[in-house]
Amino acid sequence: MLEKINETTGFLRSRGFIDPDAGIVLGTGLGGLTAKMENTIEIDYRDIPNFPVSTVEGHAGKLIYGDFGKKKIVAMKGRFHFYEGYSQDLIALPIRVLRYLGIKCLFLSNAAGGVNPNFSIGDIMIITDHINLLPNPLIGPNDDRIGARFPDMGEAYDKYLIKKALIIAEDLSIKVQKGVYLSTSGPTFETPAEYKYFRIIGADAVGMSTTPEVILARHMNLPVFAVSIITDLGVEGKIAYTTHQSVLEEASRTEEHMTALMTEMIAAL
Ligand code: HPA
Repeated sequence: MLEKINETTGFLRSRGFIDPDAGIVLGTGLGGLTAKMENTIEIDYRDIPNFPVSTVEGHAGKLIYGDFGKKKIVAMKGRFHFYEGYSQDLIALPIRVLRYLGIKCLFLSNAAGGVNPNFSIGDIMIITDHINLLPNPLIGPNDDRIGARFPDMGEAYDKYLIKKALIIAEDLSIKVQKGVYLSTSGPTFETPAEYKYFRIIGADAVGMSTTPEVILARHMNLPVFAVSIITDLGVEGKIAYTTHQSVLEEASRTEEHMTALMTEMIAAL
C-alpha cells in the first residue's frame, strides 16, 4: 500500500500538487465549490496512477489542486462509494494520498436523509459523530507506518473545527443543525422501518458515504470536518419517494450556503 501511495503522491507532486493546506471531498451537488478555485491543475482520476474511477452521476472524477483564497487545497471532485463495488484498498488510496501530499485537515460533504424529526429538507447538518454500518476500511493487514492498528475514534470530528463552523454559520446567518451521521452500504434508500430503526439507535441523518474516509483520515491522525445536506426525510409521515435526481436537486439548492460555509472554514485554517 505504502509503495502505491508514494508512487501516486510522487506523480501528483511532479504535476505541481505542492504542499496543499487542506483536502476536500466534494459530495453530491457540491462540485460547484471548485469554481472558486484559482490557478488550478486538474487531473482526471483515470490519468492518476493507482486511482479508482468513480461511476456515479454527480461525481465527476477529477482531482483539482489550486488556490482557494489564501490557501492551497486539493479537491476530490467525485468520491468512491462501497456500493460501486470497489475494494477497501482502492477506496483508501485517495485519502491516504491527500495526507501524504501534506494536507493538514480534511473537509467532507455529503447528501443525507434526515431522521431527526426537527430537521427540514435543505438543512445543513454539521456532523459531530457517526455510526459506521459500512465495513470498516481498515480491515486487513495494518501498516504501522500509516497509522495504528486500533485507532481511537473518541473525537472523530474535530471539536475546534465544529466550534469554528458554528461561529461562521451564525456570522453568515446560515441555519445549521448538528448531529450524528449513520452510513449504510446503499445503494437502496431506506425502508420506513429502517429509518425508524436508525433514529432509535441514535442517528440524525443517514447516507452512503463519508464514514470510511473519516476512519481513514483518523487512522493517520488527520483532523476532519464534515457536513451533510439533508435532501430528504426519513421521518414517519414525511417520507416521500426519493430518487438520485431528487437528491441532486435538493443538494444543489443548498449549494450556495454550503460553499459559503466551507469557504470561510478553509480561510480560517
Ligand atoms: N438514505 C441514504 N442515503 C441518502 C439519503 C437517504 O435517505 N439521502 C441522500 N443520501
